[in-house]
Order: sequence, then structure tokens, then C-alpha cells
Amino acid sequence: MTTKQDSWGTRVGLILAMAGNAVGLGNFLRFPVQAVQNGGGAFIIPYLVCFLLMGIPLLWIEWSMGRFGGSRGHHSTPFILDSFDKRRFWKYLGVFGIFTNIVVAAYYCYIESWTMSWVYHTVAGTFDGKTQTEVAAFFGKYVDLDKSFTGIPYEPIVFYILCLALNTYILSRGLSGGIERVAKLVMPMLVAFGIFLAFKGITLQAGQEGALFSGTLGLNFLWEPQFDSLGNLNVWLAAAGQIFFTLSVGMGTVHCYAAYVKKKDDIALNAMTAGWTNEFVEVLLGASILIPISVGYLGIDKVIELTKSGGLGLGFKTMPYLFEQWGDVIGTMAGVAFFGLLFFAGITSSLAMGSPWIAFMKDEFRFSEKSASWTFGLVVLALGLPTVFLFNYGVFDEYDYWVGTVALVVFALTEIILFSWVFGLNKGWKEITSGADIKVPLIYRPIIQWVTPIMLIIVFVGSLITPEGGDWTASFQSMMHGDGWILSDGSILAKLQNQDIYHSLQAAIAAGDEEKISFLNDKKLYVNGSRIFLTIVYGLICLMVYKAYKNRKNKKTEEVEA
Ligand code: ALA
Repeated sequence: MTTKQDSWGTRVGLILAMAGNAVGLGNFLRFPVQAVQNGGGAFIIPYLVCFLLMGIPLLWIEWSMGRFGGSRGHHSTPFILDSFDKRRFWKYLGVFGIFTNIVVAAYYCYIESWTMSWVYHTVAGTFDGKTQTEVAAFFGKYVDLDKSFTGIPYEPIVFYILCLALNTYILSRGLSGGIERVAKLVMPMLVAFGIFLAFKGITLQAGQEGALFSGTLGLNFLWEPQFDSLGNLNVWLAAAGQIFFTLSVGMGTVHCYAAYVKKKDDIALNAMTAGWTNEFVEVLLGASILIPISVGYLGIDKVIELTKSGGLGLGFKTMPYLFEQWGDVIGTMAGVAFFGLLFFAGITSSLAMGSPWIAFMKDEFRFSEKSASWTFGLVVLALGLPTVFLFNYGVFDEYDYWVGTVALVVFALTEIILFSWVFGLNKGWKEITSGADIKVPLIYRPIIQWVTPIMLIIVFVGSLITPEGGDWTASFQSMMHGDGWILSDGSILAKLQNQDIYHSLQAAIAAGDEEKISFLNDKKLYVNGSRIFLTIVYGLICLMVYKAYKNRKNKKTEEVEA
């Protein structure tokens, strides 16, 4: 059911909403950590190549699939994929475009809620006078749900529910009245906050404001290209993963937003504007804040060490302490700007994650905007509470790994096969270029047909069997000698077998550490439990799609009979 108000108000609004979908916590937290973990300048070239050869083609494909489905009344991927080929299984593969969003929204909103809390604590002066270790310990206690140490009982849960309620409320206001309005308001503020912090990061001088090194040290670490990294498949896998996450491709959000574009409207230039805006924010602003400032105060080695265990939490563990060095006023301003910017970046992305579920409920089950939005809020709450309560047992990381990383590649591979091989590139190209306000370079025809799918297959197979230490040669040799392939703990196959937990368990048993043994046994239980839970959720959405399909069929029969 499509109602009249289901469309974007203005082109600027659409582009800002689409850019807001892409610009997120990934730009400011994930990108710097990925870059540091993968050798700084060693990361940038694969990253940019992946943007050009995977990111851009997938953006065009997803925008055009969305507009194509939207013009036939479908706004979520099960039935968007169905409009490209009638074989039934596409619908059930299209479930990824709903499933991924609600699952990622569940843990993503938890990080988003940390940003709200960190703004509050910056203003309340909670971090004043704390050392870096104390700030990191604050984060540890926070995610450990230590009951009252922050002054607000059950604070993480309170902020999480607040954050979900805010997302739900905005979503219930509709596309142009909610999402578009918020994007127009917060995207310019986000860029302004980012420029202020990037300026501070780049101009940080050794010996001033307590800094040990200049901000340029961190920038050089990031930007000095290291060509020898081009042969390292692991760096390529990380770069591709970052491109997927940051552009939100392989998720289903782009399809959904683009489904509300009018049939004759441009998508080629719109897709580029939103995509390049994301890259501007990530590469220029995202890279100029966390790394230069942390390296300026802590040095490269310490930052590398922190990123090993830091992940998305790094900025929360370090930045409040670093901002304190700038004095009360500038320090508080910087803290509010940084965590405020993260909140703005986060909410424009989580709103996008809500839209496929809402579109599905509206299209297929005749829900109103409001009730569809509240069902989204409740479903995400149910999915998210395990990540909040069992954060330390790795449930959050499980969601991020299987759904926020692996599922994106699987869905991207699915859609590109459907688009360029089943639907056919000739028809697909026509979809991309119809109504285009730019000339789409012809070189992208073979890229979409061959290069991107082949790269996706390499990424998928590479992630499936990543060898120990990233040493492919040693693993091949080991296989040749009949000793088998040595899987890295981070590879998909090893993860499936809980190899990482098994290794830690072996070490704990050898050390006779009873507490750790019991913790790891519990962890195994929760990790396996969360996988089963996620599989059931996928199955339930498949059932809903089946029901929707039946409803459609019955409706058609009734129409014919009438
Ligand atoms: N694209 C969003 C981000 O980068 C999900 O955080």
C-alpha cells in the first residue's frame, strides 16, 4: 500500500538523507581503527580501489534496483528482488535486506546511546581530572552494567531505551516529515563539528596543550602509501569490509530510500553525490580526528596497541581524557562536538535501518507509518537487549561479525548476480542511466558485470578461509605437505567452530585459571545461543514474506474473479 505522502520532499533532502544513511559511526570510529589495524598507509590504496570498483558499482545497482521496485509499489528488498526475477528463492534472499537492518540497528543503537551518555557526562564534568586509564575503566564499568557508578541507575539501559524511542518517534513522522527533516538539520551541524575537530587535530603541536607529538605524525602514519601492502589479501578484505559498512551497501537501506524516488528522476548523479559526500566525511574528517589527536597524546605504538582491543569503543575510552588537555572550555566544547557529531552520524544511519522494516509492514500488512515504526522499535529492543546484557560475553561482536560484516558481502553478491546476470546487464544499464543527470562512464559496464562480482567472490572466499597470521603462502605449503589448511581464528570457518574460544579455553586450562574457564564456557553458550537466535529471526522474516506472498496471490485471484 503506497500512500501519497510516501515520497521525498526535495532532491537536497533525499541526498542528505542518503548521505546521512552512509555517514555514520563507521566513518569516525570504525574507519580510523581499521586503518590503524591494517598498517596506516598500507590500508588507504586498497580502500580507495575498493570504493571505485565495488562501492560505486553497488551504489548504482542498489539505487536503480530501488527505483525499479518502487515504481512497481515495492519498497523493501524481498519484493524488490522479486520484481527482477520471478523465481521464488529471490524473495527469501531479499529477506537479508530487512534482517540485516533490524539486527545492525539493535547493536548500532547501543553505540548511539553511548554517544548520548558521553555528551551528558562531558557536560556534567564526570571525566574531569580522570587519567586515560580511568576513562577506559569508566567505559569498562559502563558496558559491564555496573549498577550505579555513573549516578544514574541502570544508565546504559536507560540511554538505550531513550535512543530507541527517539529513533522510533522520528520514523513515525514519515519520510519527509521525519527522516528528511532530521537529515537537513543535523548533516550541516555534523560537518561543522567535524571541521572544528579536524582543525584541532591537524594543528595539534608537540609541546603545546600537553601534546607529546604533532597531529601531523598521525596523519603521515595514515597517508604515507605503502605499496608493498597491495599483495596482502587481508588488508584488501578489511578495506572491502569498511567500504561495505561505510556506504551501507549490501544492507537494503539504499534500495528502500531509492524506492521512494520518482520513476523518471535521476539516480546516477544522486548516488554519486551521496557516495562522495560519505567519502569526503570519512577520508577528510574521519581520518583527521581520532588518529591525529590520539597519536599526538599517546604515540603511534600505544594507539596501535589500543586498537587491538579497542574496536568501536576506542573513541569512548580515549577521547574524553585527550579533550581534557585542552582546558575546561575548549575541552568541554570538543567533547560535546565529538560525541554530538557521533550521535548525529549514528542517528541518520539508524533511521535508515528502520525504513526497510517499516516499508515492508506498510506495503504488505497495511500498517500505518506510526504502528509500523513502533513495531520496529519493539523488535529492535528485543534483538538489542542481549547485546546490552551480554556485551562482555561477545554477543555484540557476534551480531557485528555475522550480520554487520558477513551478511553484507553475501547480500551484495546476491544482488549483483541478479542484476547483471539474471536480469541482464543491458537492461540493468538502462535502469542506471535512465533519467541520469550525468554520463555514466562506459567503463563501468564491464566493471559491474565482471570486476565487482569477481572481487566480491574473492572477498567472500578469502574471509571464509583466511589463514593463520594472514600468511597464505605458509598455509598453501602446509596443505601441500598434507598438514591441512591453518585457519585464522577470524576466518568464517574458524568462527563457525568457535576456534577462538577454544584456543582461549586451552590457554586457561593450561594456566589452571578456573574463573576464566567458567567465563569462556558461558561465552560459548551465549555466542552459540545468539547465532541460533539470529537464524530463527531470519526464518521468522521468511515466514512473513511467505504470508505476504500468499496475500498478494489471493488478492490477485480475487481481482481476476471480480
Ligand atoms: N554506513 C553506516 C556507518 O558508517 C552504517 O556507520
